Amino acid sequence: MNRRRFLESGLGLAALALTGAARADAETYRRFHAALARQPALAVYADTVGSQAGQAVISGRLPADLQGSFYRNGPGRFELGGERYQHWFDGDGFAQRWTIAGGRVSHRGRFVETCRYLDETQAGQFLYPSFGTHLARRGFRDNDTLNAANTNLLPFNGRVYALWEGGSATEVDPDTLATVGLKTWRDDLRAMPFSAHPKLDPQGGMWNFGALPGSGRIALYQIGSDGQVLRTGVIEVPRQAMVHDFAVSASHLIFLVPPYDLQPGNSMSFAERHRWAGDGPSARPLRVVVVSKDSLTVRKVFELPPQMVFHFGNAWEDGACTRFDVVLHAGDVLAELGGLMAGERPASLQSRSEAVQVCLDYAAGQARTSRLFGPSEFPRVAPQVVGSRHRRLVLLGDGGEAVLSSVNLVDTDTGTVDSYRFGAGWQVEEHVLVPRRHARSETDGYLVGVAQDLRKGVGVLTVFDAARVSAGPLALARLPYRTPHCFHGNFLSA
Ligand SMILES: [Fe+2]
Repeated sequence: MNRRRFLESGLGLAALALTGAARADAETYRRFHAALARQPALAVYADTVGSQAGQAVISGRLPADLQGSFYRNGPGRFELGGERYQHWFDGDGFAQRWTIAGGRVSHRGRFVETCRYLDETQAGQFLYPSFGTHLARRGFRDNDTLNAANTNLLPFNGRVYALWEGGSATEVDPDTLATVGLKTWRDDLRAMPFSAHPKLDPQGGMWNFGALPGSGRIALYQIGSDGQVLRTGVIEVPRQAMVHDFAVSASHLIFLVPPYDLQPGNSMSFAERHRWAGDGPSARPLRVVVVSKDSLTVRKVFELPPQMVFHFGNAWEDGACTRFDVVLHAGDVLAELGGLMAGERPASLQSRSEAVQVCLDYAAGQARTSRLFGPSEFPRVAPQVVGSRHRRLVLLGDGGEAVLSSVNLVDTDTGTVDSYRFGAGWQVEEHVLVPRRHARSETDGYLVGVAQDLRKGVGVLTVFDAARVSAGPLALARLPYRTPHCFHGNFLSA
């Protein structure tokens, strides 16, 4: 793969010009704090300073066979020098580890000390452009100068990585979460984009991709269980904009490319440069790009009606078809999410989403969707079924105003749902399935996640019996403080 050509073709380096403009702004700061004073629940999007460590108070019964570390990550620092980022995705990564051991639950959290975090802390102000906030106070060397390390925390091969999508993984200490440094999988891959959604093969190793909006290319990685790069590739994807996640089956890698036009411009953020191209007479489709694992080349491109996508469930081969689950959003979600930073909740956000299973029929050249669940986000499947036939999909259900308020385990064969609604005063974060040792089914284990108790302003670890979600949590482990809202995480059993 020609790394230099790949990077230079992306917009990462196109934003290099120093315009002197600075729009992480005092106005967003002022509006957010005025809104927070009226609505304490907005504290979920408040700034975090320093590190955290504490013991949780447990109610209910913590299962004896659930032991391990729940690694999670999300943006924690939104404010500096009286200014506030304009988009939720901009904040600096705050790595968290919930440890379940000996009947106790402890928590630790600290910022990933990226180049950006250290430089901006020292300067006392934001310096660099980020996803949704245009800034150009200081020039940058490459993508990793801008790396926020804020999207996922992945245990892999005895190490733990804080993931972003525009640059390298950042290794952190599995115990203390102290930053070790940028991970270069192979010398010629330095600073290449490495998505926050790698797929771990249950037999070991991982698949991942890297996409720079505007580059017209997606890089592909296959990494062995020992951390060695097995294969890399590049596919051509014309008019490719934001591609955040993918799905992996036994034979294919599946990408969805939403219809955005990428505007040129050095005075706009990445998010602002994404112009929705899915409306009107010249609307473009949502493309399904299917890559053969054998050749790392595009096998076929299908089309679906124009929609936006963040997250997939799982993919599997069903005879001559490939099936995968995905959450589809109607229209341009990126801009709506931005308002959260100013304390504006987008009323319509998740209510315009739907979880579907897509069947790719190669012979007919058609992609057919069937509904699995209504407005939702954060799909996950049990780790042991990644890439193969699965029958259960975890989804968080919509509670309105960008607040997810229920956990749902969907039977993807029958459509039946086992769900629990937390109700008013709660905001639910991603939940993951944790199988028992030698689990005999996808529900033979626990559903573990975090929910924010908005009234008390504290973070709570939740543990459900995966076979009986509707019975409510087996245990809640309540911290004495608020934890920054995470995007994604992974459970490492002890
Ligand atoms: Fe994500």
